[in-house]
Amino acid sequence: MTVDHRNPVLRVVPGPTDINANGHIFGGWVLSQMDIAAGIVASRRAGGSVATVAIEKMEFIEPIHLRDVISVFAEVDRVGRTSMAIRIEVVATRDRGRTEKKVTEAIFTFVALDEQHRPRPVDQGE
Ligand SMILES: CC(C)(COP(=O)(O)OP(=O)(O)OC[C@H]1O[C@@H](n2cnc3c(N)ncnc32)[C@H](O)[C@@H]1OP(=O)(O)O)[C@@H](O)C(=O)NCCC(=O)NCCS
Repeated sequence: MTVDHRNPVLRVVPGPTDINANGHIFGGWVLSQMDIAAGIVASRRAGGSVATVAIEKMEFIEPIHLRDVISVFAEVDRVGRTSMAIRIEVVATRDRGRTEKKVTEAIFTFVALDEQHRPRPVDQGE
């Protein structure tokens, strides 16, 4: 799976409270950053509010360390009638930029919402 790595949607640095008992970063913290980044991409594509309806695939490939800089890349993978699959990759940069590792990847599904928070059709034109 490949996502364009030129423009991250987010760059984030985890803090000391994000560490688990192994000294690595909690999976839930990473998942949260991915949900935020994918939500931005889905909302832009839908031109309005969206909600996460499913995480279809999630793989933690390598641990994230405390001083890593995390880049979250996300792009639209496919568009349904009201739903959008967003492909996400997380890259950790360490050793002051000398090392880059893909640490996590996933596909999240979002649904475009109307003002009553019900599914609304996504423009198929793009
Ligand atoms: C999003 C929500 C409004 C969708 O309502 P719904 O009654 O399930 O809507 P539908 O059955 O019409 O499905 C809407 C679309 O989502 C897709 N979808 C629904 N459940 C899905 C699932 N588990 N996996 C993948 N796609 C799913 C449907 O296939 C449909 O796609 P399409 O229109 O492109 O064909 C509703 O599920 C909801 O409010 N969920 C909570 C969202 C939320 O709070 N997220 C934050 C996490 S706490």
